[in-house]
This record gives sequence, C-alpha cells and structure tokens, in this order.
Amino acid sequence: ALERTFSMIKPDATARNLTGKIVAKLEDAGLRVVASKRVWMSRKQAEGFYAVHKGRPFFDELCDFMSSGPTVVQVLEGEGAILKNREVMGATNPADAAEGTIRKEFATSIGENSVHGSDAPETAAEEIAYWFAGIEIVG
Ligand code: CMP
Repeated sequence: ALERTFSMIKPDATARNLTGKIVAKLEDAGLRVVASKRVWMSRKQAEGFYAVHKGRPFFDELCDFMSSGPTVVQVLEGEGAILKNREVMGATNPADAAEGTIRKEFATSIGENSVHGSDAPETAAEEIAYWFAGIEIVG
C-alpha cells in the first residue's frame, strides 16, 4: 500500500554536506519527498522526539548529538515506504549495515549514523506529526 514514513538526516551528515547524496539514494529506491525542511532542534525537542529511549544509557549522548547542528526532517511516500526506507538506511550500527546502504556508505558510528527512519506505522504517524503540520505535506 502507499505509505508515508518519517526520515531525518542527522547533524553528522548535514555537516559533511551529504543531504543531496542521501536524498538521491531514497529517491532512487522509489521514495518520494512530500515534505522537507531544515531544523536545528533544541535539546528539549530532541528529548521529546526520542522520548521512547528515555532511560537508555545512550539517551543523553543521543539528545546532545541531535541538537548539535542542523538536521533535515522529511516525509517520504511510496509503496511500503516504512520498510523500504529502513532497507535503504541499513542497520543502526554502520558496522552491521549492508553494502550500498546509506549507513554503510556514510555513517561513522552507531550514534553518528547519518539518518533516522520510522520503524512502524504508529511511530511514522507520531514522528510526522511531531515535525510537520498537515499543510506542509504535499503529496
Ligand atoms: P535512531 O534510528 O535515530 O534511533 C535511536 C538512536 O540512538 C539510533 O538511531 C542511534 O543513532 C542512537 N544510539 C546511540 N547509541 C546507541 C546504542 N548503543 N544502541 C542503539 N542506538 C544507539
């Protein structure tokens, strides 16, 4: 089915000017960018976005990193977009990521792993709503 998912290009990737190269990989896989903006999130916004990870040992480091520089938040649309995006991203830890994936090619560590993507329909809906008003999504 035609689905929407939430995607974020993280500060390690924007710092290295990789936005276009990452979006090209998503588009080449058949995903369409239907909303996009550059956001330098606050620590509070990062804590809210990653609230599900509160209490995990990497939470503070994660929120520091995500508020350390610009990100690009996007909504991607396509057939099976949630799974497709996760396939193109590759495993969370770049050491485990398959050849040709974004994280294999660009990520430097499990924390600075260049992209985030929603893992399920419920989280996709929540994450899209966290960053975008309906009027900003143009399918
Ligand atoms: P992301 O898909 O954005 O969701 C949570 C993030 O926490 C994850 O990608 C990683 O970048 C980050 N993270 C940092 N350390 C760890 C860890 N030890 N295990 C899992 N995720 C981690």
